[in-house]
Amino acid sequence: IDRSQFPPDFLFGTATSSYQIEGAYLDGNKGLSNWDVFSHISGKIEDGSNGDIADDHYHRYKNDIDLMHSIGVNSYRFSISWSRVLPRGRFGEINSEGISFYNKLIDYLLLKGIQPFVTLCHYDIPQELEDRYGAWLNSQIQEDFGYFANICFKEFGERVKYWGTFNEPNVMVNKGYRSGIYPPSRCSEPYGNCLAGDSNIEPFIAAHNVILSHATAVDIYRKKYQNKQGGSIGIVMSTTWFEPYADTPIERMAAARASAFEIGWLLDPIIYGSYPPEMTQILGPILPTFSSSDKKKLTSSLDFIGVNHYSSLYAKDCLFSECFLGPFQSNGSVLGLGYKNGVPIGPKTGMSNLFVAPNGMEKIVLYVMERYKNVPMFLTENGYGQNTSCNLSTKEILIDEARVKFLRSYLTSLSNAITKGADVRGYFVWSLIDNFEWLHGYSERFGLYHVDYKTQKRTPKLSAEWYKNFLIGKEDQ
Ligand code: FCB
Repeated sequence: IDRSQFPPDFLFGTATSSYQIEGAYLDGNKGLSNWDVFSHISGKIEDGSNGDIADDHYHRYKNDIDLMHSIGVNSYRFSISWSRVLPRGRFGEINSEGISFYNKLIDYLLLKGIQPFVTLCHYDIPQELEDRYGAWLNSQIQEDFGYFANICFKEFGERVKYWGTFNEPNVMVNKGYRSGIYPPSRCSEPYGNCLAGDSNIEPFIAAHNVILSHATAVDIYRKKYQNKQGGSIGIVMSTTWFEPYADTPIERMAAARASAFEIGWLLDPIIYGSYPPEMTQILGPILPTFSSSDKKKLTSSLDFIGVNHYSSLYAKDCLFSECFLGPFQSNGSVLGLGYKNGVPIGPKTGMSNLFVAPNGMEKIVLYVMERYKNVPMFLTENGYGQNTSCNLSTKEILIDEARVKFLRSYLTSLSNAITKGADVRGYFVWSLIDNFEWLHGYSERFGLYHVDYKTQKRTPKLSAEWYKNFLIGKEDQ
């Protein structure tokens, strides 16, 4: 694979998010986020860690940008911590120190010739919104998210040309309100030791408010800023390629349904103004409805789709079989499986639910292209996680041949999709540096750079070297 197989103005970058790298969780007048509070509850994070210090990127951002610059990327995807800009959500003042941090970050990126690609909400939100009114369960959040977005457009929009409203809202609401393994720990179906809540419609209410919050921010951007600032705005989704468990009509339908539940759930409303037919057929009145003014505001409320893609699963129909527990079970009566007859869909990675299946990249991109009439896409995340809880040596971590192989094969697959007509405009490796991997804490390493958390020293892995060579057109075979 060669850089010249991608369009000349293609963005090549690395991605991170605020809670996973910034640390400095109380510095500069930052307020507490839901993840600050959640990670401090004992038993929530596998290795007992939290993001208090993380990569200390808040103090080391220049060094980290220098690392990106040395790799030769032309773009950087990061997120703004809402609770750094508005420590108390809607209930207090704007934090000038927070604004100043992101100003410095953006200015230094531009100085180094790196385009900022900014996510407004990558899971972390001000805890006060949760405490005061239940955050995503309350429609008040639509206005409050708009208020936050407006501040960001106003302060940073002259320099930021790519905005994503949300990162993986499908994951955020499923894990926050269905399985309850992310904040605010509400579950609507029995999961682990979490008992089902009173209301199993919560994931759908939360998603509904996310969808309308997205539309509110886009509306503000388009009316007040877009013409003047000349940027574009979209949303970033978690995507899995669902391979039918067997080549039968039933399993093919199951795979289509799984995709609709995963991606169409948010993208159909944002692009077409209504929930996907695959969902309404199964869920019917359980799904909230959009008013006609909502629909108007929603339709075509994005300029691009951000696709995060790591892995594929088999989709197995459960509608009438023993695995069917209810309409909320596993993507609406579909079971996503990593194995078929004991054989994994691809080699395992460090994450038990992620497998190496590069062809899924081409397939998912073509799926999104067809379902959404070739709206421009950015491949906003792709990467390889290495589980280091079993005491790997630093050398084993630094010589990350499996990651190099992974990135190379997925980029090849992406270029196939582009050859077949998909309008993909950029690709971001997750992640620049090892960081706080949510429930897995620091045991799961995704970085092109190794981070020694005792000293905060960054060391390039083989993959950093490989990405650099790829970007200057010197890819080894
Ligand atoms: C994605 C998240 C990102 C990171 C990667 C490994 O789902 O968006 O923050 O955790 O997975």
